Amino acid sequence: MSANRPAAVVVLAAGEGTRMKSATPKVLHDICGRSLVGHVLAASGELEPENLVVVVGHAREQVTAHLAEVAPGARTAVQAEQNGTGHAVRMGLEELGGSVDGTVVVVCGDTPLLTGETLRRLSATHSADGNAVTVLTAEVPDATGYGRIVRDEASGAVTAIVEHKDASPEQRAIREINSGVFAFDGALLAGALKKVRTDNSQGEEYLTDVLGILREAGHRVGASVAGDHREIAGINNRVQLSQARRILNDRLLTAAMLSGVTVVDPATTWVDVSVTFEQDVVVHPGTQLHGATHLAEGCEVGPNARLTDTRVGAGARVDNTVASGAEVGPEASVGPFAYLRPGTRLGRGGKIGTYVETKNASIGEGTKVPHLSYVGDATIGEFSNIGAASVFVNYDGQDKHHTTVGSHCRTGSDNMFVAPVTVGDGAYTAAGSVITKDVPPGSLAVARGQQRNIEGWVARKRPGSAAAKAAEEAVRGSAEEG
Ligand code: UD1
Ligand code: CA
Repeated sequence: MSANRPAAVVVLAAGEGTRMKSATPKVLHDICGRSLVGHVLAASGELEPENLVVVVGHAREQVTAHLAEVAPGARTAVQAEQNGTGHAVRMGLEELGGSVDGTVVVVCGDTPLLTGETLRRLSATHSADGNAVTVLTAEVPDATGYGRIVRDEASGAVTAIVEHKDASPEQRAIREINSGVFAFDGALLAGALKKVRTDNSQGEEYLTDVLGILREAGHRVGASVAGDHREIAGINNRVQLSQARRILNDRLLTAAMLSGVTVVDPATTWVDVSVTFEQDVVVHPGTQLHGATHLAEGCEVGPNARLTDTRVGAGARVDNTVASGAEVGPEASVGPFAYLRPGTRLGRGGKIGTYVETKNASIGEGTKVPHLSYVGDATIGEFSNIGAASVFVNYDGQDKHHTTVGSHCRTGSDNMFVAPVTVGDGAYTAAGSVITKDVPPGSLAVARGQQRNIEGWVARKRPGSAAAKAAEEAVRGSAEEG
């Protein structure tokens, strides 16, 4: 248990986020594989709070359903009407019985770049200084729209937060702003919230007014200045959403590079927070890595790969490929231009080549499917070779069926394996075969029409054509040679 473990974290997520112009509530928009509120919850979770309450309002069914998925331990408090941040926190505390003893940390649901470390530092400052409230602030290049931090000229102590809309021209010149993140003494917070009025330009209960109220009552008010102002940026529109995604992506790639991953072009490489890497991985430009994707030691991915929930083994090569729910074995090779769908498992040293699609297919060690094929619902053993342009015909129009090909098989080009069917170990199949019956181990299966040559057909049916002339010359030439 951490020393500064707060009694509660209250996440404000009731606002609509009109500027997103979206059917999706603002806090559910995604960056790097996690919703905005999901990022805030992850950072909050690092404080190990005794209680975690999310205040929901706008589109609360949708937000609550999402929270149940990503933060099953979180409680929700409903703020039916968005009467301001102070009112929202009041609703959050009501969920906890009206007041709590100990530290209450308040964060906004739309600040996805906030880190657990910054929250811990805020919490530590708050406890060490014995404050009634500590506000996380930052110096920003453009303070428009933010609440300004007003400090006492002589002592430098924070005296108030003035909202942009309520600020005087002198106050608007202040570049230190309220991040919207606070640590409070829980009991003092509950008492002060009862005194917050709504006589401001927005007619709302401002959480920020709690500072002045506590200060006037003789309590200590402090501030913790964030090292990087970009960390506290709130997302209000999709331009800011893309900027935040870029910053978070850079953070994730920087961590990967520092742990021994070569990222050839960070500007065109996109990763989710949940992606993991081992040492000496190389990621080429234009690559997107999503979900539970894991890249093992020394593998090389891209250019232009989009991998979701895919594990790439040590030393494997995946080029220009889309994969989802797939497992690529060590030293295996995939692409260029392959599509691996869920349930694809490629064994050590195996190959899925160009214009090959696979689904629910287990392809054994050293087995190759090099060109132009579809392998669906199949098990293929070790060290077999599937000829070019083959299709595992798994669907009869109603049900899916399975095909099994053994080890050390050599199947011909342009084969159709009409499932359910089994090709035994060490068997061969002839090119152009439609395999509808099981092939015993070690056999050669030939399943195609016999070739018939009708001599002189072109001369008779296409007289005078270029084909007829070419044929005539060829026949004459071979007669002269002979
Ligand atoms: C707020 C602060 C401002 C600060 C800025 C930082 C107040 C009065 N102002 O302004 O000082 O600089 O954040 O980004 O606190 N919310 C609710 N219920 C409500 C109102 C808001 O849950 O009734 C939530 C929103 O969903 C959002 C957060 O509180 O997550 C902040 O609300 P927002 O309206 O964006 O506040 P600002 O006007 O930006
Ligand atoms: Ca507002």
